[in-house]
Amino acid sequence: MSGGYRFPSDEPLARQVRFTFNERELVGLEGEPIAAALLANGVRTIRHDDSTGEPRGVYCGIGHCFECRAQVDGVNGVRTCLTPLREGTRVASVAQWDVAKK
Ligand code: FES
Repeated sequence: MSGGYRFPSDEPLARQVRFTFNERELVGLEGEPIAAALLANGVRTIRHDDSTGEPRGVYCGIGHCFECRAQVDGVNGVRTCLTPLREGTRVASVAQWDVAKK
């Protein structure tokens, strides 16, 4: 399994699912936060700041800061730290400040 940043385990933690980040195919665990799956795959930069262009990624991990927002299955501004991963989820970096209502 890709995701070399996970703790090793002899037991399967959950069903593995395929998803994409900026059209790159990755593998994660079904139901884990998308942000966790990205981190497990070595992805630290989820988007770049709207005005400065600086890299942004997971900061609070609990839905408060919105730094982890991305486009998920075509919806902009989704907080990846709160959104569970599913088979075939498409995640993409977005620049615009457009927050999904959940
Ligand atoms: S990391 Fe802060 S809202 Fe997701």
